[in-house]
Parts: sequence; C-alpha cells; structure tokens
Amino acid sequence: MTISPDNSPDNSPDNSPDSSPDGSPTMQHPSPFLQFDDFLSEEAVEKLIAFVQSREDDLTASTVLARNGDNPQDVRRSSTLFDLDSVWPLFENQLHDLLPVMRKELGVPHFSLDHTERQLTVHFDGDFFGPHNDNGGESVATRAMTYVYYFNIEPRQFDGGELWIYDWVDQHGMRLQGDRYQVVEPRHNSIVFFPSWIHHEVRPVHTTATGLEGCRMTFNGWYRTAAMPEVELPAPEPFIEDDPDIVAAILRENLPKFTATGFAIVDTPPEVHRLLAEAYAAGLESAPQEGSDPRYLTSGDPSFVDIGNLGYEVGPMLQSIHEEWSGQELELTAAYGIRTYRRGQILRRHVDRFETHVISSVVHIDHESDEPWPLEIEDHDGVVHKAALEAGQMLLYESAVCAHARPEPFAGEHYGSLFLHFKPTTGWDFTTEELLTRAP
Ligand SMILES: [Fe+2]
Ligand SMILES: [Fe+2]
Repeated sequence: MTISPDNSPDNSPDNSPDSSPDGSPTMQHPSPFLQFDDFLSEEAVEKLIAFVQSREDDLTASTVLARNGDNPQDVRRSSTLFDLDSVWPLFENQLHDLLPVMRKELGVPHFSLDHTERQLTVHFDGDFFGPHNDNGGESVATRAMTYVYYFNIEPRQFDGGELWIYDWVDQHGMRLQGDRYQVVEPRHNSIVFFPSWIHHEVRPVHTTATGLEGCRMTFNGWYRTAAMPEVELPAPEPFIEDDPDIVAAILRENLPKFTATGFAIVDTPPEVHRLLAEAYAAGLESAPQEGSDPRYLTSGDPSFVDIGNLGYEVGPMLQSIHEEWSGQELELTAAYGIRTYRRGQILRRHVDRFETHVISSVVHIDHESDEPWPLEIEDHDGVVHKAALEAGQMLLYESAVCAHARPEPFAGEHYGSLFLHFKPTTGWDFTTEELLTRAP
C-alpha cells in the first residue's frame, strides 16, 4: 500500500488570501486528506466487483439531505446499495486498524468509535454530487471521518468523477467552504480519508459505456462517534502542541504579520549605544552566569551583565524605531540583558512567546570574536537569512513568528546584546489554545 498525502495539484484560481464580504482578508486553509493506493488485494477487488455485478438490479437512487428549496436531483445523482454484509469483511479490519493513524494524520480530535457506516455508491454517466459536507444535519452530526474507496471495472471507461476537496475559511469560529480546492483522482483500488466536516464534491462522471462497465464505484462511509453521554463529563484537557518546530510553523501561519520580511537591521541611536556600551564595559569582567533555559541554550549558560534599570530606560528611547518599523502602537513588555554569549555557545532554533514578544530587537552592544556570528532568522516565507550585527546595530524582528537560531558555536570571548520586546497596545489577546488549534 502506498500513501500519497496532498498529492494532487492545487487547481485553485489563485493563491492570494480571499476577501470576505466586508472586504477584510480571510485566510483559506487547505483541507487535510490522505489517499492510499493498492488498498485491497486483487482477489478482494475481484470479489467486490463480482458482488456489485450480482446486485446491479438492487441499486436504488441515492437520497440526500437537501437544504430548504434545493431540489435533491440538483444536489446529487447516483445509485446506492446498503446491504453489504457479505463484502464488509474485506474492509472491516483495515478500516479499524487505520483509524488511530488517520485521526492523528488528519488532525481529528480523539473520539470513541460507535460504529462505521458503509454504503456502495455507483456513478453512471452524468452522475455527480455537488458541494456538501458529510456531517451537516442532526442525523449525521456524529460522523467524524469519511472514507471513500474507489474501484471500477478495468480498463476504466469513464472520465471525470474527481473528488474536489475544498479549502476552509474560518469565519467567527465556523469553518466555511473556501473557493479553492484540491483534486483527488478516483484511482482504482485507492482509498481517501478526510474529516467529515470538510466541504467536497464529486464532479460529473462522463462515459459512453453502458452498465457497470462504464461507471465509477465507491465503497464509502463514515466513522461515527459515540452518542453524547447523558452525564456531563469534565472537559478534556485541550491538546497543546509542544514540539517547537511544529509550534513555529503553526504560529507563522496563524499570527498576524506586520512587516514584509519579518526582520531588519538598523543603527542604534549613538547616544543609546554609548550608554549601553559603557555599562557593558563596566560589568563584563565580573558578570556571573545567567540561569537560562537548557532547551535552547544547550551549550551552557551565557553570562549576564547586570545593568540595573538601564534596559527599561533605553527601551522607551527605542520604542519609536520599533513602532515605525512595524506600523503598530507598541508597549514595552521586557528588556533583558545584557546577555553575553561565551566561546562555544549556541542558541537553538525557536520562536519567542507570542503573548509579549511580538516586535523585538537584539540591540547588539559589543563583541570580541574571531569571525562574525550571525543570527539565522527565517523570513515570512520560511527563507533563512544570516544577520550579522556590528556593535551599534540592532536587529528588529517579529520574534514570535520568525524562527531564529545561532547554530554555529560562538568563536570568540564575548558577545553582548540587550533584548527588547514589545507587543501591540490593542488587539493582542490571542490564546495559545486558539492559535494552536485553529488549523487542523
Ligand atoms: Fe460526501
Ligand atoms: Fe528568541
């Protein structure tokens, strides 16, 4: 069995964010799905096709939960068979075993399985199923995940019948259908899984062959969650992602960005640089080691030159530089330093805490080293840049969004910088859970 996640070309009209009716941008998120090839053995496929051939006369017109005013025939046209006990064993074990993997891969929250629904659907010439999702309605609300197994009599004699998986758009917490989509080819003996809330459609099938020879067949259905318990259970702890690489990727996607690239190098105003340089020179020799986070500073603690309140005095002096660069009214949330790296030290790749470290700067004061020691920083497109600072320069960066690191061991005696952190004065009230669970 081969796996091909997101294997279809993006046939969307464009790649730019969509606009909502009020003109504000709404981000389209690609919907998750997975397609496996060679799902059943050859004997099993033969048995399945023989079964359909023996039951052709029992196929009945599919029904659909049409919205008010919609003619069901305008929404869906296909034929269905429900009495599938004799072929269900071909699927039962594999579908059961794949459930936990699919749930994880597709970002479907854990649920206890009540039962797995199944039906056999046949699309003859002209049949289709317009855009819909599979769990919109009381009777289908417990459908959590959809599976669609494709098969046909070979050689295949139809065109069309692709599955379009629409992107989704978050509108006030509701996941609505976007206008972009990914295309899934109904490949013989392949199976597709996707969360049942995703909007999708089956494109019309075209064939000149008659009967089952020319049709697109699926064995498809839904994993159903158990009915809601009558007693109220305490809410489960939300799963919060803690892999720093995944967190960085999700934050990059979900947090607002304020600048084109995410970072810039500018000169520190000379009077500020002079104040800091004097304090640094005075305290460097007697600087103790700081207590730092060993997850990111894996090569030992840097030194800490204590400059008292000076960081909070120069922070406001540099605030306007941060505000002009970011286009935001800001408040100072932290001034840390002077952190002083020593020979051999590194800083692992990370993003800063987004609650307070939104628009930040590395105000570089001085260093004594054999060679430049750049900060590696990823711009908003994920491209890594090397930013080497001179004494008297500062790096402005969107530190919660742009992952940054110093992966090469520092070759020198000392490298001292003050770290300033600002956040927007208004509208910055995201929660971790909201950000990390927004995208599936
Ligand atoms: Fe569907
Ligand atoms: Fe950082």
